[in-house]
This record gives sequence, structure tokens and C-alpha cells, in this order.
Amino acid sequence: MAKIALIVGSVRRDRQGIKVARWLEEKLKNRNHTVFFIDPLELNLPLLDRMYKEMENPSEKLKDLRNKIKDAEGYLSVTPEYNHSTSAAMKNTLDYFLEEYYFKPSAIVSYSPGGFGGVNAAQHLRHIFAELGAPSISSSFPISRVQDVFDESGKLMDERYDKRVIRFLDEFEWYIEAFKNQRAKGTPY
Ligand SMILES: Cc1cc2nc3c(=O)[nH]c(=O)nc-3n(C[C@H](O)[C@H](O)[C@H](O)COP(=O)(O)O)c2cc1C
Repeated sequence: MAKIALIVGSVRRDRQGIKVARWLEEKLKNRNHTVFFIDPLELNLPLLDRMYKEMENPSEKLKDLRNKIKDAEGYLSVTPEYNHSTSAAMKNTLDYFLEEYYFKPSAIVSYSPGGFGGVNAAQHLRHIFAELGAPSISSSFPISRVQDVFDESGKLMDERYDKRVIRFLDEFEWYIEAFKNQRAKGTPY
């Protein structure tokens, strides 16, 4: 059982991503994890001016977000693909913090309306998480034709994803445990 921050990457009013994120939240909870559901639409963070650590009087909302990012033992990001990259909302949310992520793994779920499942966004996001000190696990989880995978209410229509996600989350949990054990022995900085 771990504390996992699930980070939503879209703030569009008719976003597909919320269905993916809610489905993953349920999967994680069913595996007895504590989920910190981080939704930039709810947070409504401004485009970055000061990082959290540079703020003199961070808002309660930001303190709470910071505590979740700091307490999390792994980061599960759910990214759309905009112009072959992750979204501004994802990047902006992540950029508020740095040391809070250190020595904890990330895992990347991407989706798109076409056949490639947002793999370009996932590749860019790998670079970002590497820089944040939260390297991504080997596997990623692209969801192609996302509008056909979930119905309007968010119900999964393609049951193959229920099977596919098991191995992905098994791997993520393995990394979370491995990093946790190693952190207990100390970190280089
Ligand atoms: C600004 C913008 C750029 C996009 N660029 C891509 C792209 O490069 N590749 C792709 O597969 N889909 C692209 N799309 C389509 C999105 O993947 C699609 O709208 C998806 O539903 C976005 O996720 P969301 O609904 O959760 O915001 C783009 C959409 C927008 C709004």
C-alpha cells in the first residue's frame, strides 16, 4: 500500500482525460493505495510566477498540494497530447515543485483520439520527470481512440484495458517499493 499522486493533465471543459484519471483512481484504490487526486482544473493554479519554495505566503491550497506532492511515494500522470507534447496544465502543475519529487518513481499514462495513444506526449513527459528527480518506469500506458474506450459517463467500454493495466500497475508498485526501500537507507542529497 502506497501513497500515490495521480496528476490529471487536462483542464478542457469536455476533457477526455478525467475519465481515464477516474478509472485509474479506482484501480489504485482497489489495490489499497491512498490516492492524492491532483486536478489542475480544480486547483486553478496561475501560470507559474514563483515556485512553492520561493513563496513567502503560499495559499492553503498550495500548501495542501505541496504536502501531497511531498508525501506521495509515486506519481501517476495522465497526460493528453497537445502538439506532440504534454499539456501546459500538466507542466505548469509540475513546475511549482522540485525537491518534493526527489527519489520517487513516476509512471505515465497517455491517451489520444487517434491510433498512437499520445506516445509523443509520454516521451516528452519522461524527460520532464527525469529532470524533476522522479524517473519514469520503463513501461508507459498509451490509450488509443480514447473516446471509444470509455463511454460518456466514464465507464470503461474496452475491457482489454482492465487486463493491460494490471501489469503496468504491478511494475509501478515494484518501483515504488524499490525506491522506498532505498530511500530508507538514505539519499545522495
Ligand atoms: C491544442 C491541441 C493540440 C492537439 N495536438 C494533438 C497531437 O499532437 N496529437 C494527437 O494525437 N492529438 C492532439 N490533439 C487532440 C487531443 O489529443 C484530444 O483533443 C484529446 O481529447 C485531448 O485530451 P483532453 O480531452 O483530456 O483535453 C490536440 C488537441 C488540442 C486541443
